[in-house]
Amino acid sequence: MKINFFEYKKLYNEYKKDFQRIFDDVCSRGAFILQEDLQDFENSLSKFLNIKYAIGTNDGTNALIIGLLANDINYGDEVILPSHTYIATAAAIKLVGAKPVFADINLKDNLVSVESIKKKITKKTKAIMPVHVNGRICDMKKIKAVASAHKLKIIEDGAQSIGAKFEDKFTGYYGDCATISFYPAKILGCFGDGGAILTNNKSIYTKLYQLRDHGRDTKGDIKLWGTNARLDNLQAAFLNFKLKNLKKDINKRRRIAHIYDNELNSITNLKLIPGPKFKKQNYDVYQNYEICAENRDKLKNYLEREGIRTLIQWNGKAVHQIKSLKLKADVPNTVHFFKRCIMLPIHTFLKEKEVMYICKKIKKFYEIH
Ligand SMILES: Cc1ncc(COP(=O)(O)O)c(C=O)c1O
Repeated sequence: MKINFFEYKKLYNEYKKDFQRIFDDVCSRGAFILQEDLQDFENSLSKFLNIKYAIGTNDGTNALIIGLLANDINYGDEVILPSHTYIATAAAIKLVGAKPVFADINLKDNLVSVESIKKKITKKTKAIMPVHVNGRICDMKKIKAVASAHKLKIIEDGAQSIGAKFEDKFTGYYGDCATISFYPAKILGCFGDGGAILTNNKSIYTKLYQLRDHGRDTKGDIKLWGTNARLDNLQAAFLNFKLKNLKKDINKRRRIAHIYDNELNSITNLKLIPGPKFKKQNYDVYQNYEICAENRDKLKNYLEREGIRTLIQWNGKAVHQIKSLKLKADVPNTVHFFKRCIMLPIHTFLKEKEVMYICKKIKKFYEIH
């Protein structure tokens, strides 16, 4: 058996005719930049996520950058984030002139620890950037309480968490704004780069709207320094079509995760993500099924030989461990996690018998090692 980690070609082929129809429709109308398909998608997205405003951006990184700018994060400010994230989160902070300050994760679900956030707050702290890694929302109630007590902004990095909920609320509910990525491997992916930023706050929305398009307001007048962070109208049209299947796709991921949970939970050398039984307030969408494994590298090689592709996220490095950037952080749980983390396949084309095969091979590995 051969099990891939990504299935990009299958994703296209499944709805090939629809995608070709959309391509033809948009191109024959010459509707490329800031057109009605983008507006339609933004409306559908805000409806789906129960948020007042959604703005399409050219990717999740630029969504973070304009999110920081709209919240007046500037040179010399400090922003607290986990080091367990993609470089984009820290880069966005750096690129607006602020300083990324790393908080540790908790080892229960590998998300940013609220206690650690509290310890990192200084006079210069202006914002918290929680990252909902793997499709699980951080403890936003507690984070919101800390932010309110210290008058800090919250910019949620929801690149991986579309559709996930914390106490029945989607990404974006608790923060001043929240971002999403539509990178092809994401739960809702487009055919290239894409992203969005969400907010319930009208004045933040107005700024985001202008920042995305060189400072222009709805009449075309330039109100502030902005950039080009627009989502292509064509990508928006594809995304609007794919959004219709999002619930189904999330359910499929949740079913696969459930099988992994049941099959693997007796292996003492593994630490799984806490499933729904552990924390009822989290509705996870499983962008990734990432576990901690003893003997991780050997396990990866063994599965590879058995035809199973796995992935070690971000080249096996937390952001502060990227040598060239010369960053500092005292985050022992994050270091512990990155020595062990490994992601098992969880795409929507995965068959139940393939998931069972993966579990069988993992069990076999730990019988020997
Ligand atoms: C946690 C996180 N933040 C930010 C990003 C950046 O998104 P994009 O690649 O769309 O710029 C990603 C993308 O993988 C991500 O996983």
